[in-house]
Amino acid sequence: MNGLNDSQVYLNGDYLPLSEAKVSVLDRGFLFGDGVYEVIPSYLGKLFRMQDHLDRLQDSMSRIRLELDYDFEQWIEILTPLLDETRDQYIYLQITRGAAPKRDHAFPKNPIPTIFAMCSDIKPFAGAERGVKAMTMEDSRWEMCNVKATTLLANVLLRQQAIEQGCAEAILHRKGYVTEGAASNLFAVIDDVLITPEKTAEILPGITRQVILELAEKNGCRVSEEVISLDALKTATEIWITSSTREIVPVVELDSVKVREGIPGPMFKKINQLFQQYKRSL
Ligand code: PDD
Repeated sequence: MNGLNDSQVYLNGDYLPLSEAKVSVLDRGFLFGDGVYEVIPSYLGKLFRMQDHLDRLQDSMSRIRLELDYDFEQWIEILTPLLDETRDQYIYLQITRGAAPKRDHAFPKNPIPTIFAMCSDIKPFAGAERGVKAMTMEDSRWEMCNVKATTLLANVLLRQQAIEQGCAEAILHRKGYVTEGAASNLFAVIDDVLITPEKTAEILPGITRQVILELAEKNGCRVSEEVISLDALKTATEIWITSSTREIVPVVELDSVKVREGIPGPMFKKINQLFQQYKRSL
């Protein structure tokens, strides 16, 4: 189970090779993107901040009115057979509103959700230690970005545009303030304060973001959850993007202008070290 093409996956109660996992073309996940997902890291077989991920999953499901009543133990039982204790991996878990008899935007009666989970190796992000380039872009997503929805077309287009410009991530903004990355949360160090946009419906409440805030506070850093204007971001001495699959990645060039001297800053080094220690201590 190492992220190779024919690894075992979980689909609706069965474990089977990825190549044999099939869902109906009438599945609402396929037709409408009507589903939610989670990405949960597993370090040497231990699921990272599992309760937080499940709480967010429950919140996403409630917001799209998808009912599924599994408790912590049931999820652990489903996901554990996919894990390998010798590797750092992540679980991709997706739940859709299932297949309906016909294509209709309105919910079907008594839908049976489709539950799918697969596991892949966490691959260190190329260039993460040295830092990456990012560019700012208008946030063209919908107004429920706090739902971890599989409907990701805007995110896909934004990230692709960034990559085509030689950047690793698109940093999004609305009405002059920044929200988050196309697939990451955002941190900035401004006047020695570690700042991240506050939790609203305009951002995904990232678990990595939460862990960083806890570690920074516990270790005496000045932290703040507040609005960051695009102008303020341009004055930041450090900018990071964070996610479960990439952890903490410093942005060393924003819109072709170097952040600091174009090298990762001291706050990144400190928090990244704390993060690495923390994940191994669990
Ligand atoms: N994405 N914001 C967005 C829009 C994201 O897609 C993600 C993660 C995050 C960070 O959340 P967390 O720290 O809980 O991973 C923030 C995942 C990794 C993905 O879509 O693959």
